[in-house]
Amino acid sequence: METLELKPLEKKKLNVLLLEKEYNEPFYVNEPPTNANELKALQKSSIGFYRFVENLVSKVNVDYTTDEMGMRSQQDFQNDAIAEVFHKSNIPYFGVDIDANAKAYIGDALAKKIKQRNDVVKALDSLSKREDTTIEQEYMIALGQSLQSEIEDHQQEVNFSIRESWIAMGIMNHAREIKGKEEITCLHICSPEHMAGTKKLLESLNAKVETAKLSKKVIAASAEVPSSAEMENWLQSIQIQVKPVMGKGVEEAPYLLFYIDTDAKASPFDICMAYDAGYDAVIPYQDVNPEDAKNITQDALLSRGPKGVKHTAFLIGGKNAERAEEVFQAVKDSMFPPFKTSIIIDPAGSYTTAAAMVAKAEAALVANKLGELKDKTCAIMGTGAVGQIAAVLLAKLGCKVMIASLNPKRIDGKEHAESIGKLLAKDHGVQVQGIFAPTPQSKIDIINKADVIMCAGVKGVRIIDKEMLNGVKNMKVLLDINAVPPFGVEGIELKDDMREMLPGIFVIGALTVGDIKHKTEKEILRDSRSNGKEIYNYNTALPMARKMLEKDMLPGKLAMTLSYQPAKKSN
Ligand SMILES: NC(=O)c1ccc[n+]([C@@H]2O[C@H](COP(=O)([O-])OP(=O)(O)OC[C@H]3O[C@@H](n4cnc5c(N)ncnc54)[C@H](OP(=O)(O)O)[C@@H]3O)[C@@H](O)[C@H]2O)c1
Repeated sequence: METLELKPLEKKKLNVLLLEKEYNEPFYVNEPPTNANELKALQKSSIGFYRFVENLVSKVNVDYTTDEMGMRSQQDFQNDAIAEVFHKSNIPYFGVDIDANAKAYIGDALAKKIKQRNDVVKALDSLSKREDTTIEQEYMIALGQSLQSEIEDHQQEVNFSIRESWIAMGIMNHAREIKGKEEITCLHICSPEHMAGTKKLLESLNAKVETAKLSKKVIAASAEVPSSAEMENWLQSIQIQVKPVMGKGVEEAPYLLFYIDTDAKASPFDICMAYDAGYDAVIPYQDVNPEDAKNITQDALLSRGPKGVKHTAFLIGGKNAERAEEVFQAVKDSMFPPFKTSIIIDPAGSYTTAAAMVAKAEAALVANKLGELKDKTCAIMGTGAVGQIAAVLLAKLGCKVMIASLNPKRIDGKEHAESIGKLLAKDHGVQVQGIFAPTPQSKIDIINKADVIMCAGVKGVRIIDKEMLNGVKNMKVLLDINAVPPFGVEGIELKDDMREMLPGIFVIGALTVGDIKHKTEKEILRDSRSNGKEIYNYNTALPMARKMLEKDMLPGKLAMTLSYQPAKKSN
């Protein structure tokens, strides 16, 4: 039995012209589709197609041709009108497809599932003849549907990933058989549904692939088929116009993300996230200032043309949020219609982290019937980018907000804390009280005033000791986002999710918040790839984070187990 093995050619170059057929070559493992026979008459190359191929091979040097065998026998395959074209031109013409033994092996496994499904259908048929069987029928239907869905998934896998691999191997193997040539050209005739998959596989094997399809226009005096007496005249009125369309349909501009970091070294965090979100390539730039950003943006967009621009996005990062905002502005100002595309700003992940903290606090309060976040007094411990943006989001929700500078080494702590309050008012139009709290007592004062406390201090630094919580009377919710021990709150654990750590003190740990942050950033990246909104900032991040939380909770809300219970018989 032949085994499936995909490997590139050695010391030879392979060019493949993938020519799209006019129909999908029929293929099935066990069961033909219901309309298989009716459509058979149309599943042949038209005169337009093979005349076009005749013309093509007279002008392009083709070493060999391949075509999907599908369900055709070798004899039918070689007697086809299209085969005739290649025979006349002395170009070898091979059928490529899944090996018959491999197909039989897969078919046996699938046949067992099909038999089970057919048994369920039979059982359902006999149940339908009885009267009091509704519940049994419901369960039987569920089982039958689940088997049918498994069968369809399996058939889909065989038809696409498995078959396409065999087809690509066939094309490569025939190229191997050609001796004495360094560059070989293959014409492969391909079903429309296999164009993309076959191209991808061949390219992964280092083949250079071009795609072409026929644009065919049939002009007839009337679309009605006339009686046999008028047939001759009607046929004479038909014209078939055939024109190749090269590289359309399958070829798509790749999705590119330009990652612009203001730090000296571009962070791999966002680069990995962008690949995982589906970008084809992420191009990092580091140590970028606004002038660099302008040049990068314009060069990138102008090179791609209006269509490619739709597949282009920019992500601005960097530890210093103010510098990142300046670069963001430069990128935004460098765009003009139609060279406008998505820009995401998330300095060192701070915007998505702040959004995740706020969304989590909001949902946790409601889920635990502790009121609404907008009515609470909130304290942010830490004046870094995460703390500042969390303060802005909370103030915009309507909360009373304090932000505390904690670093005991700060000589100008009071001025620094107050300046943060002023900065947030100036840049974001929100009222936030800046407080310097380097000592345990100053922190206790803040804790006593706040209902919700969010610790956003530097990693590995303890902010709240258990002792500070001893005298606390009212209920508190404490979040911490420092994932490096010692954590920001003594006694908190990374995966805490509203654990009552002390009476009335509920805690949420760094990984619980981090998980939502991660999902939010990925969702933003995915959205920027498919939707192409203009700007993604902390205002966009909060609704996304809420959506991610809802999505997380949905499976739990919807999950249920149904067990079969016979209906009670009435006496
Ligand atoms: N879980 C996640 O997914 C996630 C994602 C991103 C970030 N983070 C974490 O979020 C936290 C905040 O990050 P960030 O970028 O906003 O800020 P940051 O630059 O890490 O620092 C935050 C604040 O910590 C304070 N600080 C510095 N040294 C201190 C010390 N010795 N003692 C007490 N406080 C000190 C500073 O306060 P003052 O300047 O006001 O004095 C500073 O503003 C970090 O722990 C980071 O690792 C978590």
